[in-house]
This record gives sequence, structure tokens and C-alpha cells, in this order.
Amino acid sequence: MYSKVVATGSFIPSNFLTNEDLEKRVDTSDEWITTRTGIKSRPVMDDDMTVPDMAYNAAQDAVKSLQAKDPNFNVEEIGLIICATTTSSSMFPSCACQVQGRIGIKDCISFDVAAACSGFVYALSVADKFIKTGTVKKALVIGADALSKTCDPLDRSTIILFGDAAGCFILEASEQAGIISTHLHANNEHAEILTLDNKQFKAESHLQMQGNAVFRLAVAELANVVTETLEANNMDKSEVDWLVPHQANIRIIAATAKKLDLPMDRVILTIEKHGNTSAASIPTAFDSAVKENKFQSGDIILLEAFGGGMTWGSALIKY
Ligand code: ACO
Repeated sequence: MYSKVVATGSFIPSNFLTNEDLEKRVDTSDEWITTRTGIKSRPVMDDDMTVPDMAYNAAQDAVKSLQAKDPNFNVEEIGLIICATTTSSSMFPSCACQVQGRIGIKDCISFDVAAACSGFVYALSVADKFIKTGTVKKALVIGADALSKTCDPLDRSTIILFGDAAGCFILEASEQAGIISTHLHANNEHAEILTLDNKQFKAESHLQMQGNAVFRLAVAELANVVTETLEANNMDKSEVDWLVPHQANIRIIAATAKKLDLPMDRVILTIEKHGNTSAASIPTAFDSAVKENKFQSGDIILLEAFGGGMTWGSALIKY
């Protein structure tokens, strides 16, 4: 039994903060941000919106996409909702429970997963296990975050990176290969290089980051997890058709693509427009490629992410 990705959806706020906007606020330049990160703009959630609002909108987009393929699909068929987030409006009700209520499902397993920017790969892996064990037949897996709201607006080392968004996969039990394998890791040893304190317990709770240390660890561990994924499936890197990376930094992404000998036109990139949307970056990038009809049935797609914790992981998918 496999879990297959049968629909995707996303929500991107319509307001964008550009490098030019940031030049007016802090001592930085479009040239510095573009060459160091590949980012030109990032979507920013309106103040009257919440992460569960974005998650619900992304879920609705995915539900509509599945209903277009299968008019008989009913949301009550969904047995599981997992939302990867570290920026939801409340600790409880969880973001997943709020989506469940708004989407109109009476009873299904619903919970959040916190693994920072690796959250979506973690949530996908957990949902895959629920499907593989026969516990549920359909699952909504959401990545939703608003990290732009957690940065000190005057800290040029963080405010340039993060945007807000939500993305969603609908998984379905299938006899045919879908998610082939997932590989998750965490190591708390260097956790202090990327932290976000809980607002309830600290007055000063802005995101703190030692960017250069995060960069070096990300490049090293993502190379390791790519090797681990290929070896676990006895695959050669030439068999990978697409890379859908967490969109943290174009140079980190290029290093992973190089490890796979994959040309950059086989890498799904949203970083220039969206920046780093944390747990939302993989599902929104994936959804953009689906909407542009980039993937063919049977394509092998590698997802990978690295984030606070420190956490990292990958998922290999047959589309
Ligand atoms: N504009 C201009 N100069 C800047 C800026 C800026 N926005 N930010 C930092 N600088 C300066 C620094 O002060 C430093 O100046 P100095 O040499 O006089 O001390 C210089 O630029 C170099 O700083 P570094 O931090 O070494 O720059 P680096 O090349 O490492 O780029 C960056 C910084 C873009 C943050 C990079 O390290 C990076 O992308 N790291 C990964 C971050 C990441 O992925 N974080 C998210 C993880 S996912 C999650 O879980 C949230």
C-alpha cells in the first residue's frame, strides 16, 4: 500500500514586501539580498489574517482541485489532517483542528507538527504511515507559516528571508507507488543557531539566527540525506526527474542540485518571488509546478528540507 498525491493547493498572500521596500527600512541592498539569497520579494500575510486562515484557504484550493477530477469526492472521506506549522495563532485548538472545523468535517484525526522549515516533510512522513498502516484512506497534509511576523522588522539578517504562505497535499491510499520513502532527522546539538521563543513565555520573542552556521549545516546535511534517500531505494541520481527543495537560499538549493547532477531547470524554484515560507515552501512550490503542468505521471520527485531544531529530511515521490 502506498500514499499517492492526488491533489495539491496553496494560498499566497497578495501583499509582497520587495527588496526595494527593505532598502528603505534597513541597511541593505537589492544586490546584496539577490546575490546572497536569490530572493527578490516575499508575500506578507495581512494583519487581520491568521495562519489557520491561510491553511484553510490552501486546503480549500486542494479540495477544489480534487473535486474537479472526481466530482463524487466528499470531504468526509478525509480521515486525517496534519498541519506543519510553528506560527499558528493558538497552541490549541491546533491549526489542523481549525481547518477541520471550517472545512466541515465532523470527525477526523487532526493535529499539528512542529519541525520548523522541515515541518512539511515531517507531516508528509507521518501521514504516509497512517495511510500505509490502513488507519486512514485520505489525508490532508498542510504546511502553513507566517515567519515574517516573527522577525525583528529592523534585523537585516532575518527580515530579508522570510515570507508567509500555506500549501496542501491530499494523499490517498493506492496500490500504485506514490510516496516511495521518507527520511527524517533531528539533532539538538546546534539548536542555538536558529531559535524562535514562544511568545507566551518571553517578552522578547523575535526569531534569532546565525545565518552562516545554518547555511553550512544545511548544505552538509542535505547532501547526506540525498545520498541516504538514493541508497535506501537502490537508485542512481540520474533517476531523479525533479527536485522540490525547501526554499531557504538559492545557494543551498544549487548545492543540492549539484550533488544530484540535476540542471536548475529540473529544480522547482519559487524563492525569488516567495522567499523562505518555512513549512509552506515545499507544498506551495510543488503546487506551482502542478499548476504549470511540469510533472508527468511516473516522474520521480525528491523533496528535501532543513530547519530549526535542527531538523532535516527528505521524501521521494513517484508522481
Ligand atoms: N544586507 C547587507 N549586509 C548584510 C545583510 C543584509 N541584509 N545581512 C547581513 N549582512 C552583512 C553581515 O553583517 C556581514 O557583515 P560583516 O562581514 O561586516 O560582518 C556580511 O553581510 C556577511 O554576513 P554573513 O551572515 O556571513 O552572510 P552570508 O553570506 O552567510 O549570508 C544569509 C547570510 C543569507 C542569511 C545566509 O547565511 C543564509 O541564507 N543562511 C541560511 C539561513 C536559513 O536557511 N535560515 C532558515 C532555515 S529554515 C527554518 O527552520 C526557519
